Amino acid sequence: FADTGAYWRSWYDAPTFEEDLERLYHQLEPLYLHLHAFVRRALHRHYGDRYINLRGPIPAHLLGNMWAQSWDGIYDMVVPFPDKPNLDVTGTMVQKGWNSTHMFRVAEEFFTSLGLLPMPPEFWAESMLEKPTDGREVVCHASAWDFYNRKDFRSGHG
Ligand SMILES: *[C@@H]1O[C@H](CO)[C@@H](O)[C@H](O)[C@H]1NC(C)=O
Repeated sequence: FADTGAYWRSWYDAPTFEEDLERLYHQLEPLYLHLHAFVRRALHRHYGDRYINLRGPIPAHLLGNMWAQSWDGIYDMVVPFPDKPNLDVTGTMVQKGWNSTHMFRVAEEFFTSLGLLPMPPEFWAESMLEKPTDGREVVCHASAWDFYNRKDFRSGHG
């Protein structure tokens, strides 16, 4: 491969992959530009002219995530309608007694409703759905693994 990008693109079959993405990007661009301007304005209210140029890019390190991949960390600064009910369902899930297994089951129901296969029994028997309480140190960064024996797929902590 000429470069890493060519390697990553090799995973996709579509012969017009780059053009397809370009077209999709341009469809989303107006929404993205509005969202970017909205967030930049909210950050400007917080940080002022010294750190936020209202005509320039948003400094990545102000987006609340080390890689600027997720903007969740600044949600409290950009929430559009602070007086409207919170869309965070955590409290309701706790109230209804949801646990991690139930969350995985509901997620599975969603995927099977799209026509995907249910998880095999090995997934439910061997996955680490919760941080262990026996003193073992695990890093809570969920990931999914294929063990390459055609039946063993697990979710766990790295
Ligand atoms: C988790 O929730 C499910 C469904 O509500 C329940 O059947 C199961 O016993 C719960 N598991 C634990 C460990 O609490």
